[in-house]
Amino acid sequence: MRLQKKIAIVTGGANGMGRSTAIRFLQEGAYVVIADYNDTNGADTMREIEEQGFGDSVRFIKTDVSKEADIKKMIECAADNFGGLDIIFNNAGVGGAVGPVWDLQVDEWDYTFDVLVKGVFLGVKHASRLMRQQGRGGAIINTASIAGISGGCGPLSYSAAKAAVINLTKAASVQLAPDRIRVNAICPGFILTGLTQGMNQSAEDVAANLAGKQPYPDHGRGEDIAGTALFLATEDSRFVNGEAIVVDGALTALGPDLWQRWDLPYERDMDKSVLNRGTTGEGHVRRKLND
Ligand SMILES: NC(=O)c1ccc[n+]([C@@H]2O[C@H](COP(=O)([O-])OP(=O)(O)OC[C@H]3O[C@@H](n4cnc5c(N)ncnc54)[C@H](O)[C@@H]3O)[C@@H](O)[C@H]2O)c1
Repeated sequence: MRLQKKIAIVTGGANGMGRSTAIRFLQEGAYVVIADYNDTNGADTMREIEEQGFGDSVRFIKTDVSKEADIKKMIECAADNFGGLDIIFNNAGVGGAVGPVWDLQVDEWDYTFDVLVKGVFLGVKHASRLMRQQGRGGAIINTASIAGISGGCGPLSYSAAKAAVINLTKAASVQLAPDRIRVNAICPGFILTGLTQGMNQSAEDVAANLAGKQPYPDHGRGEDIAGTALFLATEDSRFVNGEAIVVDGALTALGPDLWQRWDLPYERDMDKSVLNRGTTGEGHVRRKLND
């Protein structure tokens, strides 16, 4: 039990990686408040959790993370029911405004930033306020995205918002470090959840579509993010602060994948070994694998 009697809030915990994380935290001995806008999925998640025997350790509160009054109530829910707060996973999110920059609607841009950036800001603000009063440190974990570190991993407004989450995380970690409140972000790659399934694709279709498109053979799962959140929530990560941890099966490590995309006269070096001596005038060395 790595989170015995710790008190956690998970926003966006009614679905996807938030639900996986809430369940993982409960399995590790934590008390958990699940805060989500979708109370139908919230009820389903609560039923599943009760069936697993954790009913006494969990509460659901309908929350719009972009509304400060809701965030205050969410924090009070943890304090009133479980006696305080040690961990918050600011994870709720949506795809937001999608389209070319010259056509984006301002109100849709605002909605994207309200949920993805203001929601995280408010979570950090009110969680850190309580954590500072308690004086026993804390762990704040924000869900960013690989879309926040490059231009080609998501819609434009989503990329901008997730970049903001990464730097909000870093700046907050500096301010809160003296109180031993650590602030880190997780940058998921492509994780199979309701969000990435879109409106009318089955999980199987998305998984099949992903096969072979990223270096790791399997697609990412909510449980992969839950495991990373658990690490960031425990003392195992005591000195990890202000980090944005990429969890993407080496998708961003692959980078632009020039060899593959531009059909350069080198392969990914997986079928032979070569010592390239450049333009030194000395010949290259080629050998078969395992020679
Ligand atoms: N799935 C991916 O591939 C992926 C990749 C990178 C980042 N992310 C991010 O991970 C987070 C979780 O996404 P997911 O894939 O689990 O999606 P999901 O749709 O399965 O779950 C997101 C949850 O957030 C809730 N939510 C949305 N707006 C809310 C609001 N205003 N207030 C409260 N709750 C709200 C939804 O109701 C839902 O339950 C999001 O921040 C998303 O941007 C996802």
